[in-house]
Amino acid sequence: MRINKGFQAWDHPYLFQAMEQAYSALDADQKCRVINLGIGDPDLPTPAPIRDAIAREHKSRYHGYPTSQGRLDLREALANHYAERFGVNADPDQFYIGPGAKTDLFDLNAVFAESGDSVIILDPAYPVYRDAAGYRQQRIHFLRGTFENYYQPEFDPDAIEGKIALIYLCYPNNPTGVTAERSYIRTMIDTALRFQCLIVMDIAYADFVPGNHPSSAFSIFELPGGEDVGIEVGSFSKPFSMTGDRLSWVLIKNPAVRKYWHRYRSNRDSGASNYDQAGGLAALTDPAVKPIVQSNFEIYGRRANILTNGLKMLGFPMTGLLNTPYAWFKTPFPNSVDAARTILSETGIILTPGSGFGPSGEGFLRATIFQPESRLVQAIDRLQKFNFPTK
Ligand code: MLT
Repeated sequence: MRINKGFQAWDHPYLFQAMEQAYSALDADQKCRVINLGIGDPDLPTPAPIRDAIAREHKSRYHGYPTSQGRLDLREALANHYAERFGVNADPDQFYIGPGAKTDLFDLNAVFAESGDSVIILDPAYPVYRDAAGYRQQRIHFLRGTFENYYQPEFDPDAIEGKIALIYLCYPNNPTGVTAERSYIRTMIDTALRFQCLIVMDIAYADFVPGNHPSSAFSIFELPGGEDVGIEVGSFSKPFSMTGDRLSWVLIKNPAVRKYWHRYRSNRDSGASNYDQAGGLAALTDPAVKPIVQSNFEIYGRRANILTNGLKMLGFPMTGLLNTPYAWFKTPFPNSVDAARTILSETGIILTPGSGFGPSGEGFLRATIFQPESRLVQAIDRLQKFNFPTK
């Protein structure tokens, strides 16, 4: 048997799978009292008009293969969304409908970087960027984020060994919840132009706003040079509770870049399912969806307040919960995996260890708002009774 060397050497279970294993190890009584604040999986149902659209599409006709680029009406709806939401003029042909942002983020690396290349990865951030580079034996350079640099770490590209192929950025950021300054992304664009590399901009949380406050998220294509070097990845998962449907988009404005993504997607898969795409179309165009999403954000806003106030009362420095469903906080535990395991076994609360998002996440934990208010109140109460180590 032969195993791809990069794959063999990169022996990391997917972060959330590792937490599932810790949960499986609990006995039945412990499992009953678990409050899961781990993976970012919305608990509020997919809005009914979206589910109806998916069901109608399924029943209405025989389904052959979808197109690998995605339905034109959905790409047109995305072009309108970009115009209204970001003031970005995009052509429907510049969008690729994908089978979930995780897959797109992982696959972009296969097309736009080679083994041995340098890949610049925001740290902490969604672990898929790092795993995609690791499997392919690339040099990973973490951009070390801290409270002090507002999780917008700078770097000296001239000090990087090897060809810089990709820069992975994510704002609003998972897990820290911070949004970026435009000037920060401008600097990254200038670097990408100078080093002829590409920026993968993950905006999966751009439209997730607990409490309906105005979002400060933006598209890389709002900035000069963004259209030359930007590849933007967006997702239907969080704002529309569509994690199970697997639906995303990739927007590439540079035709020389798009050509290769087109080639890849047409060979790699046969497109996102027609039903899910019908759901995505309803999400963007059915007027009945917006008030449901807004009411969900009101609910998420109340939950965010409970978590924010509770963590502040515990005295933990924190960020997040304004532009993402996550609270990111520092506890006195030096090791975040130990912290998550101990807290799970002693309080029954599942939290995600910060080190799973990169080395700069060590010492931190992440909690979601995807539990009802009463459960969050209970979680805070249990954490208040738990004996955290003293510094
Ligand atoms: C998260 O919880 O960070 C992610 O949404 C999980 C995932 O996409 O796999």
